[in-house]
Amino acid sequence: MSKIVLQNIDKFYGNNHVLKNLSLTIEDGDFMTLLGPSGCGKTTTLRVISGLEKPQNGKMFIGDKEVINCDEAYYLEPGKRELNLVFQSYALWPHMTVYDNIAFGLKIKKIKPDQIKKMVMNALTKMKIAEFKDRYPSELSGGQQQRVAMARAIASEAKLLLLDEPLSNLDAKLRIDMRAELKRLHKELGTTIVYVTHDQIEAMTMSTKIALFKEGELTQVAAPLDLYMNPATLMAADFIGNPRINFLEGKATRSGSQLITTCSIGTFTFDASTLTDDAPTGDFDCVFGLRPEQIGIFTEPTDGAIEALVYADQPAGSETLVTLQRGPDEFLAKQIGIQQYTINQKVWLRIDPNKFNIYDKKTEKLVKPVN
Ligand SMILES: Nc1ncnc2c1ncn2[C@@H]1O[C@H](COP(=O)(O)OP(=O)(O)OP(=O)(O)O)[C@@H](O)[C@H]1O
Ligand SMILES: [Mg+2]
Repeated sequence: MSKIVLQNIDKFYGNNHVLKNLSLTIEDGDFMTLLGPSGCGKTTTLRVISGLEKPQNGKMFIGDKEVINCDEAYYLEPGKRELNLVFQSYALWPHMTVYDNIAFGLKIKKIKPDQIKKMVMNALTKMKIAEFKDRYPSELSGGQQQRVAMARAIASEAKLLLLDEPLSNLDAKLRIDMRAELKRLHKELGTTIVYVTHDQIEAMTMSTKIALFKEGELTQVAAPLDLYMNPATLMAADFIGNPRINFLEGKATRSGSQLITTCSIGTFTFDASTLTDDAPTGDFDCVFGLRPEQIGIFTEPTDGAIEALVYADQPAGSETLVTLQRGPDEFLAKQIGIQQYTINQKVWLRIDPNKFNIYDKKTEKLVKPVN
């Protein structure tokens, strides 16, 4: 069992309150990504889990075993937590070859030499660095060193892998390849992975769950597509998705069993039973969250479509981004494939009201989710 439970963890560096009453459960077999902007406490959380940092308050369990209990000043030492950590800056032994860097931990575990060779070569092949096995870390690029550190973690076959931005030094193509390898590895070994990144695409594509951080607190914990479809706050909506979501300001009135909302793209009525518990009553200012791929563009008037102007188009081959203007608002639409538009062209937009989120402007919380 490698379930990890963090309960009410507080971590201070001096007066800096870095983790604020953090509670998070990582189930056995999860690929849990800690996601958030720089400085929000992701690495600190990983260091608390690994035992490299002692929090001031809270408890932590790995499986059924208590590993932190701050009330009793109990912190199980890192070596006894049966986990494997790859740092943001990879710590390889400079005096050992790539091969020996990986074999070292296996030798300590008294695994048979021919078995060690198999495990090392398998990990090196997965990370596409078998050709460098006899080199020293100083003879490798940053990205190659990073892959050695990953190969070392993989070869250990630890039940729990903690990875801190392990792909940060790789070029775009290698990063996509490595994402695929990591995803397969997770599936094949059934390892529980806690993965830190500030790259939302990485989080979306690999994880079974994402924990989104903001300034040491959790904004939302959800499966990637749930997070994408229904971000709980404006910050979460803004952080997830590329190109980013459009925000349009509007007005809302909730009376009886209806929510009536208005913004530059129209007036929309929703059944109050579809709203979240955070939905206010009466009149309030709201923000519509509209994903660029949910806007359909037509070059002729169509039933139920609204008029807009093309501000600028950005054809990129596989997709075409179009900046649109309507009333006071400017927003982005994404069309698949090659589409031809001209600046100031009149177009018609079709937008399904069930496909946008509405937020309370004051609390920034989700009021009307996508169904
Ligand atoms: N050893 C330390 N001493 C003092 N402050 C620290 C220490 N380590 C981190 N901090 C502070 O704690 C906060 C959280 O840092 P952390 O490294 O967890 O951020 P992060 O989310 O991993 O960011 P990044 O994406 O930039 O790696 C930051 O404000 C940082 O300056
Ligand atoms: Mg970090």
